Amino acid sequence: MKDLLYDLKKQTFYGFPEYDYFLYMLSILTNAHTIVETGLGRGDSTEIFLSSLSNLSNPEQRHLYTYEIVLGKSYGVFDKQETVDRVKSKNYPSNWHLINQDSTKATYDGSLIDILFLDADHDYHSVIQELQAFVSHLNKRAIIMSDDAYGSNEQQGPDKAFQEFFKGNYILLKGGKGLAIKQMGE
Ligand SMILES: C[S@@+](CC[C@H](N)C(=O)[O-])C[C@H]1O[C@@H](n2cnc3c(N)ncnc32)[C@H](O)[C@@H]1O
Repeated sequence: MKDLLYDLKKQTFYGFPEYDYFLYMLSILTNAHTIVETGLGRGDSTEIFLSSLSNLSNPEQRHLYTYEIVLGKSYGVFDKQETVDRVKSKNYPSNWHLINQDSTKATYDGSLIDILFLDADHDYHSVIQELQAFVSHLNKRAIIMSDDAYGSNEQQGPDKAFQEFFKGNYILLKGGKGLAIKQMGE
């Protein structure tokens, strides 16, 4: 196995280095085979997950599914086609499936999900709908996270959705933009 921190030393993906490291190591330590994320954006989390899956054994048997509603020039100043081209040009040995679909209406047909990372529309109703769309596809110890759960979103968007969906049994990791985290079976 390569030095696990090799990729992260070369570049910071997510803007908050501690988040990069957390997402990266979560994938490594849970030996994730199937990760689903919603929202391509600049492809930061996409690259974190692909590089971590690629550092695990048999990366060609591991999968990242990215749901993105809008492809093309659309995310602020970011050109999504450039993002897609950049990610593909890295030739990660793990499998990347870019799905042009509204994540609140996702029709997922992959293997059971080990990590579900919600980072699309951080609206309360959208997060509830995403959770409903994927919940039956989760591994029994799957980890579910939503970005942007702290600060102005606390007790409103993802935080409120997790509060209700998991009946208060989840973790809100404060700092930065905040992560709501739930492990199934806990
Ligand atoms: C915050 S960005 C994602 C950032 C990305 N995870 C990263 O680390 O660079 C949000 C993205 O979600 C997409 N999006 C918003 N609503 C969506 C939906 N209902 N389904 C799928 N994608 C959506 C937006 O087009 C945007 O590209």
